[in-house]
This record gives sequence, structure tokens and C-alpha cells, in this order.
Amino acid sequence: MGAFTSVIVSSPMSEHSKFLLADSQIPSVWVNVLPSLPEPMAPPLHPATRAPLTPQDLLPLFPMELIEQEFSPLPTIDIPGEVMDIYRLWRATPLYRARRLEKLLDTPAHIYYKYEGTSPAGSHKPNTAVPQAYYNKRAGIKRLATETGAGQWGSALSLACQFFGMECTVYMVRVSYDQKPYRRMMMHTWGAEVFASPSEHTHAGRGVLAATPDSPGSLGIAISEAVEDAATHDDTNYALGSVLNHVMLHQTVIGQEAKLQMEQAGEEPEVVIGCFGGGSNFGGLALPYVLDRLAGKGPRILAVEPSACPSLTKGTLTYDYGDTAKLTPLIKMYTLGHDFVPPGIHAGGLRYHGASPLLSHLLKLGQVEAKSYSQLPVFEAASRLPAVREFCRRRNPRTPSGRQLTKP
Ligand SMILES: Cc1ncc(COP(=O)(O)O)c(C=O)c1O
Repeated sequence: MGAFTSVIVSSPMSEHSKFLLADSQIPSVWVNVLPSLPEPMAPPLHPATRAPLTPQDLLPLFPMELIEQEFSPLPTIDIPGEVMDIYRLWRATPLYRARRLEKLLDTPAHIYYKYEGTSPAGSHKPNTAVPQAYYNKRAGIKRLATETGAGQWGSALSLACQFFGMECTVYMVRVSYDQKPYRRMMMHTWGAEVFASPSEHTHAGRGVLAATPDSPGSLGIAISEAVEDAATHDDTNYALGSVLNHVMLHQTVIGQEAKLQMEQAGEEPEVVIGCFGGGSNFGGLALPYVLDRLAGKGPRILAVEPSACPSLTKGTLTYDYGDTAKLTPLIKMYTLGHDFVPPGIHAGGLRYHGASPLLSHLLKLGQVEAKSYSQLPVFEAASRLPAVREFCRRRNPRTPSGRQLTKP
């Protein structure tokens, strides 16, 4: 899902459908929204004492350079040369104008989408996996432990660990582990070990299995397992693929490129849209535009989440744990509760009970909006994108879309 992020505009025509950038135009900094916020964010709290977290509290899990980025007062942060060398393998990603979809919908809107699927792992996730592996390697860490839903984040981190000669352990939500064996194979190919979560490998996993032996798992449970693994091994740190400020920061390469590409197209977006799990692809596209809004001239910004896991639209803005076993700091975010186990919808990466605290804060401030949709109308809408329809028709010529959508 998140490989596509959309920019929708309705202003003058331009000639092309594909907008590319030269290597020299790939952003050399990440942009940080924190110093521009009109009101500061509520601080994360220590899970035991509920006192505001200090950087030292996070050291068992993250290297200091990432902790500094989490709270950074700087408006931009230079992207290290070693990370740029890897970004250049697939960045800049293309921006497309979906002219045939516009025709099909008979809409006056001009629809653009930023395609992040050109990375080796096929999503936006390597934008943060690579710097996270890089900073951990510099801190002398040998192994990273993480969770994954659909497998996109786990495969991105496995890839990044390969680049820097590190080991990687992935706790993959059970329902996706069973539904998506090919993602598991990708992670194995990149050298990672992968456990179905809840697993017998950790205290947290064993606890869930004892209470619910057939648990489908959740991102909250898988995070507990990965955090426990990292906290109990000196040579191992934890890596998170979404939610945290430093993840949003790394993803801002998406929006910075999109802005240059929209300039090339000669248009200004009126609405910027992204799908929302924990917030990283959405934040990556939207945050550079949020800076424009905070300066008084930005577009509408809309997050779209699954109605099966509606943290932004039905959740409560409150302090909650990022994981089920209450091992993580308490963060103020829109949440459905750390023990929420969502139904096993197809988009496994969107099944997270919470949301980025930064994007939660921006939602509360009215700088971003949120909507939820259930998966079948979303699949149906996606299959109207002519390129997708053509692909499906070739695979199954019997149906107009090539695909029978029968389940509720
Ligand atoms: C391809 C893809 N898109 C979107 C998401 C949702 O996460 P986020 O909201 O952090 O982009 C995921 C999560 O794993 C993903 O793999």
C-alpha cells in the first residue's frame, strides 16, 4: 500500500507523466519540523517512573546519534555520505501523473503519485532502515532486532543490515508470517532470522501464547518481543520502522523530492494524501508541506487509515505504551489501546494501535486531517488505476478487473 503516496492538485495542464530528478537533486539533508511547531510536543515518559524521558533512558535500545535526532532542535540534519551513497542506488524516486486515471474518473483534478517502490525492498522503508543501521554500526552494535507486520519493514531492515555487515532478527506478526511467505523468504535471503510473533523466543511472546495459544499477533506484541530481545543483549539494539520522530525525519526525503518534482510539473498541490499505519510514508511526504503550512501557505494534508484499525479517527489522544507488554516509553499519541489486536486485514503494516506522536500532535493542531476506509473499497479503487487493471487482466482474463473481490 504505502509504496504509493499521492499528491492531488487541480491547476494548469503540463505535458509529461513522469518526473525525475538528477542525482545532484537528491536531498542532502533531512528536514525537521520539531523547531517550527507552534506548541511543543508532550515529552515521552519513562514506563516505570512516568518522569519525562532522558536521552540516557533510551541508550539500551538506540545509539546516541539517533536519540539526538529524536529530540533535535535543528531545522535540518545533514545526511551522512555513506547513507547518500546507498540512497543514490534508487533515489530520487519518480513522481507520476496518473493521466489515465484522471480520464477514467472524469475528474478535473490532476492526480500525481510518488512511487517509492523502486527501492530493493520495494517500499519507502529503506529510507530510514539505512540510516538506522548506519548509526548503530558506528556505535559498535552487531545486531538489530525489530518487528514487522506485512514484512516490508523487516525486509528493509534486513537489506540495510546486509549493507553494513550486521545481523538482523525480525519478529513477524503471525497472521502475516502465514499469509506472506515470500516476504519471509526475502528477509532470509538478506540474511535475517525471522520468528513468527508471538514466539517462544521471548518472555513477552511466551506470556501471550500462554493466554491465547492461537493469537494472530499484532505489531504491539511483536514490538514487545523485539524490545525485550534488544534490552537483554548488549550487542543488540532495537530499530523501529515508523512512529518515532527520527523515523519521520529520515522519510522527509520523499516530500522534499516531491516538491521539486511538482515544481517541474509546474503545479502546486492542493491536497497531499498518504496511507497511515504508524505515519512514516505519510509523514515523509507531508512534513515538508507541513512546514509550508506553518509558514501560512501549504496544501490540505490528509492521512488515510484502515477502518479496521482506526487510531487517528476513533482513537484517543493520550499517553500509551508503544507495545503490548508495556516495555516501551509512554508516548502521547492517538491510540486504540496497547492491548488492541486488530483483525487480520491484508495491509499488515497498517495494523498498529497507535500513531506517530508528531503527526498526532499535528492532527490535534488542525494541520493534518484523517479519514478511514475499509479494505475492499480500497482494493476496488486501486484496481481502477489503469496500470493495475491491465496487470490483473493479464493474470486473469475472465474478470474485468482480473480479480474477484468476494470476501466482506
Ligand atoms: C509499504 C508500506 N506502506 C505503509 C506502511 C505503513 O506504515 P507507515 O504508516 O509507517 O508508512 C507500511 C508498514 O509497514 C508498509 O510496509
